[in-house]
Amino acid sequence: MGGLLSFSKKYFRKYKSRLCMGFILILISNVLTLLPIPYIGKSINIIKNIFTSFSKHDTRDYSNLEMKICIYTGIILIIPIIGGFVKYHMRQCIITTSRMIEFDIKNEIFSHYQKLNLSFYRKNSTGDLMNRLTEDVSFIRQYIGPGVMYFINLVVLFLMVIIQMFRIDRTLTFYVILPIPILFVSIYYISIYITKKSEEVQNYQSIICSFMQETFSGIQVIKSFVSEKFFQEKHKKVILEYRNKNIELAKIDTILSSVIIFLIGTSHLLILFFGGKKYFKGEIREIGTIAEFFTYINVLIFPFIILGWVVSIVERAKVSQIRINEFLKETPEIFNNNNLIKTKIFGKVQFKNVSFIYNRKDKPTKTISKVSFTIPKGKTLILTGETGSGKTTIGRLISRLYDPYKGEILIDNLSLKNHDLYNFRSKIGYVPQESFLFSDSIYNNIALGSIEKVEPCKVYDAAKKAMIENDILNFKNGYETVIGERGITLSGGQKQRICIARAIIRNPSILIFDDSFSAIDQKTRKSIIRYIKEDMKNTTIIIITHDISYISDFDLIIVLKNGKISKIGNHSIFF
Ligand SMILES: Nc1ncnc2c1ncn2[C@@H]1O[C@H](COP(=O)(O)OP(=O)(O)O)[C@@H](O)[C@H]1O
Ligand SMILES: [Mg+2]
Repeated sequence: MGGLLSFSKKYFRKYKSRLCMGFILILISNVLTLLPIPYIGKSINIIKNIFTSFSKHDTRDYSNLEMKICIYTGIILIIPIIGGFVKYHMRQCIITTSRMIEFDIKNEIFSHYQKLNLSFYRKNSTGDLMNRLTEDVSFIRQYIGPGVMYFINLVVLFLMVIIQMFRIDRTLTFYVILPIPILFVSIYYISIYITKKSEEVQNYQSIICSFMQETFSGIQVIKSFVSEKFFQEKHKKVILEYRNKNIELAKIDTILSSVIIFLIGTSHLLILFFGGKKYFKGEIREIGTIAEFFTYINVLIFPFIILGWVVSIVERAKVSQIRINEFLKETPEIFNNNNLIKTKIFGKVQFKNVSFIYNRKDKPTKTISKVSFTIPKGKTLILTGETGSGKTTIGRLISRLYDPYKGEILIDNLSLKNHDLYNFRSKIGYVPQESFLFSDSIYNNIALGSIEKVEPCKVYDAAKKAMIENDILNFKNGYETVIGERGITLSGGQKQRICIARAIIRNPSILIFDDSFSAIDQKTRKSIIRYIKEDMKNTTIIIITHDISYISDFDLIIVLKNGKISKIGNHSIFF
């Protein structure tokens, strides 16, 4: 609970005035709940008096007492109506605040996710990331909103009821609250079990989310390999396990509610037994007092039943808070050092004995070993070699998606780590190996590359240079054609060319093409490279490819083998 409280503290502080308002409304609503109860006792006493007098053939005038009953009934009817109005505002106030807090937490987590490195994303599945951002945040919201509200409501009401009952009859109050300690002890033990089960359920939810995400992303492979049945079975297995875990959790929840109802029922019996005894002994003078006691305990039934739900939501929120914190405490490995100057980037790239290992902490695999080269600004470098030789890794290192493990990368003679990260990345045009486009219009996909405000002519110009313009204009909606889930699907070559347009629109100082021409025909490839070289004379161009047949004009070529440079030089190596 401590962790959960400290996690939520800053949000409680931010919305303290709203929450205070909610708390005041809880107090008022509870006062209004208890206010009519003494009138129930009084009315019963009057009715009893009238009945006993009738039996004694009393001929007194009772219109005065009837008037009193009418007033009491009026109070008993009207006060709950006002109470309902206050309760409505109390719920509104607290639930709205919890929604605001949910909005804040989601934004905080999302912006934190965005700062984290690629290695974090490779370690954790998308489904898990999504699950923590949605399901887990939702549990925290339920805890902060209804959870806390019902808990405070119960505490306040319970204290008020005890004080009221105590004022009427101390010993009877003592007997009535006897089951309460047993209730708290049972809640404590059951809640430990709920936490354990909640953790299992919530982790399973992440597994399901990842499974779904992967299945739908790979639907083309599943269909073409006729693997639907296999995935159907796999889905059944995952869901079955989830169902069983949920049933176990539901069982414990039910046990908790049953224990609560049983113990409240016991309180009723105790009132009847001890109250009755006292009444017959004459220690309680009015029968209405016993009716009042019953009503007080009845008022507590609903808040106590809700307590079962509150305990379960607090336990779930505890697990969620741990899961959310797990990712929030991840720090980006690549970040900006303090006070870096945003210098102009010219584009000279220098590797000095650079070595790199993926997953250095978990299962290290040496990928790049002692790579050294220099490419002056405005020149063209070809990086070639077999698959797995480390070409893509070098591209990622230049874009500072990863930092080298040994050695140094210099840009314009200054260590890459001493360049302002965001300023540097904004000067890089990177076309990754896998063309990724967002489910948005072609226009917005290309414009995404631009750092400044985009003028339409820039988008058209980039599309022209990437030789995708004709394809776009042939679509019915032209640049406004929506790609992906909500729109049309493009061919591999079309996607690659849109990605190229997205990279060149920002007029970068360093352009990296990672196998970006693989799905484009030879003639078009040559034209794109020619256009780019003519138009961006000062840009350093790095072309990563295993097929160099379409590139004739370059300044330096590096052949990689198993992460090491096996050949380096100019044209003369090959021609
Ligand atoms: N994210 C990663 N985590 C672990 N190993 C990786 C990762 N990416 C690539 N590798 C490994 O690093 C080596 C070089 O990969 P890569 O640079 O992609 O080669 P290339 O682009 O030349 O095909 C390969 O052995 C590959 O298995
Ligand atoms: Mg590669």
